[in-house]
Amino acid sequence: MNILFLDQSGKLGGAELSLIDVASAFGDRCLVGLFDDGPFRQTLEQHKIPVKVLDNPSFSVYKDSTFWQSLKSLGHIAPLVSQIIRLSRDYDVIYANTQKAFVLGAIASLFTHRPLVYHLRDILSSEHFSRFNLRLAVCFANQFASLVIANSHATQKAFMKAGGRAELVSVVYNGFEPASYSTATATTSKLRKQLNLDDRFVVGHFSRLSPWKGQHVLLEALSHCPDNVTVLFVGDALFGECEYVEQLHRQVAQSKLGDRVRFLGFRSDIPQLMTLCNLVAHTSIAPEPFGRVIIEAMLCGTPIVAAAAGGVIELIEPGKTGWLTPPGDALKLAAMINQCCSDPEQARAIAQQATLKATQRFQLSQTNQQIAALLNTIGKPCRSGFEPTYPQMRKQ
Ligand code: UDP
Ligand code: GLC
Repeated sequence: MNILFLDQSGKLGGAELSLIDVASAFGDRCLVGLFDDGPFRQTLEQHKIPVKVLDNPSFSVYKDSTFWQSLKSLGHIAPLVSQIIRLSRDYDVIYANTQKAFVLGAIASLFTHRPLVYHLRDILSSEHFSRFNLRLAVCFANQFASLVIANSHATQKAFMKAGGRAELVSVVYNGFEPASYSTATATTSKLRKQLNLDDRFVVGHFSRLSPWKGQHVLLEALSHCPDNVTVLFVGDALFGECEYVEQLHRQVAQSKLGDRVRFLGFRSDIPQLMTLCNLVAHTSIAPEPFGRVIIEAMLCGTPIVAAAAGGVIELIEPGKTGWLTPPGDALKLAAMINQCCSDPEQARAIAQQATLKATQRFQLSQTNQQIAALLNTIGKPCRSGFEPTYPQMRKQ
């Protein structure tokens, strides 16, 4: 089966990192079409995954765009859609990894009659989407998709609550290769030295800098923790959240936390950095659809405390494989950090249990097998290549 993957971003977010793992299984039998150039394209090339950046004048519909703002972009949509139509004729399936990619992929699928898959990685709720974009995603999925793959049960539930057809959607968790998360002790010690963290209790936060990822909550918690606690922020503002970054720096200055907070920017050595941390904190203030960083921390053997909403609740057994605190509750987060500081033995035992569970539950090979099995249900090969099975609505 040949797949045309589509993604709107040139940046490396969790959706894109996960797509690299999914597309790797298809090798030369796939092409990743991107609506924007950037590090994602380079990383796909490094993984020898065929990639093409589509010619895209300036297509600017955001998650919170209204109907009228989206309408204005229609002129830019046509050339993109026609490129997708041309490309998709050489592939059996159109597989959209993001919402914009899904909408344009859906229009293209109408012309080429290729089955359409939506890998739904967002919680379709008003916390993340404008009403217009939410309706658009659900209506298009109901009308045109042959399959929706949700990255957690929370994502699946939100899709159905927004009116999505239950029979379309299956849950497949992100998968990981546990071996890539083991780091030699010497490497960790060296990195700790380089970053001047020798005797510090390090709380790492690994995420793009964005208001809903809640870095400000961790800063507030830090001011209730002992002086030996240091916070490492790993990640950059990927989608122009400059104001939020300034706000974080102001918060650091006002709380006089300058010598206890580091902003490392975007890094590619996540396993090494996670391993040197004493604790990883996840602090999203809106429901996290899945949260790759949680599983990554577990695989690194670093204790994790996460905000209890969305898919996160499916990933952590509180008190057994990590801890949960209410989203936005800085005091409870501080209490958890302090507990972890004062009882490192308990933290270590929980982290060990988490590594074991994560290794059993989130293997990339299992994820890719589940996706392959689902793709096999949407169509069957025919002499000329592939015979799509259309969703019910389309037959009418
Ligand atoms: N990440 C990274 N470099 C950074 C910060 C984060 O490679 O500097 C990775 C992180 O390891 C994780 C992904 O970005 O795999 C973020 O995915 P997640 O699902 O946690 O959140 P998203 O940003 O997709 O909402
Ligand atoms: C999205 C979600 C994140 C999820 C990732 C991979 O970026 O925000 O929670 O882990 O996709 O599916």
